[in-house]
Amino acid sequence: MAIKLNLFVAFLMIYIYYFTEVYSRLEVTNIQCESLDKDFALIEYCFLKSVNRSYKYISIKANLLQPPVTKVKLHFGLYQRLNGYKPFLYNITFDACKFLKSPKSNPVALYFYNFYKDYSNMKHPCPFDHDIILDKLPYDKINNMVTKILPFPEGNYMFEADWIAYDIPRAVTKIYLSLTS
Ligand SMILES: *[C@@H]1O[C@H](CO)[C@@H](O)[C@H](O)[C@H]1NC(C)=O
Ligand SMILES: *[C@@H]1O[C@H](CO)[C@@H](O)[C@H](O)[C@H]1NC(C)=O
Repeated sequence: MAIKLNLFVAFLMIYIYYFTEVYSRLEVTNIQCESLDKDFALIEYCFLKSVNRSYKYISIKANLLQPPVTKVKLHFGLYQRLNGYKPFLYNITFDACKFLKSPKSNPVALYFYNFYKDYSNMKHPCPFDHDIILDKLPYDKINNMVTKILPFPEGNYMFEADWIAYDIPRAVTKIYLSLTS
């Protein structure tokens, strides 16, 4: 009986995941960028734009005030809104300078990088001596980046990216997402 029940639950979960994956739609509901150290980095712009029903994107530009920057870490976290945002699925930090020197050395970072690299000027090895730009990253890419690892349940989520230079957090980007079927 216990085994049958487990099988049933497993089947149900696979079914729900399948269903969620096939029919889910992701909307970006808000984006926030904040400089945590205004002597180090300023946010020039950070916005969502809806061109039409199928083409929506985000753009971000940050000015680096103390170039060149030779030590950069990125933290990516996904949070699910329950009562408050709770950690969900992943929480990773990696050395962006090491990664950009040899992308294949870090498959997890490479996974994220492949979604945004065509829209960013952060793809050469360190140092960074210019503004950091994310130009017109389409919602489709964000959708794939967030949900391809595992299809997951409907709800509200927040993707957070922390920008850490010389081991001090300097800026934070939060992308708010809503997943519906
Ligand atoms: C939406 O806008 C893009 C870019 O201007 C265009 O290529 C695309 O055809 C438009 N799609 C629809 C459904 O109007
Ligand atoms: C993410 O992981 C780091 C250690 O790897 C930990 O210190 C931190 O508390 C975690 N954050 C969340 C929100 O779970």
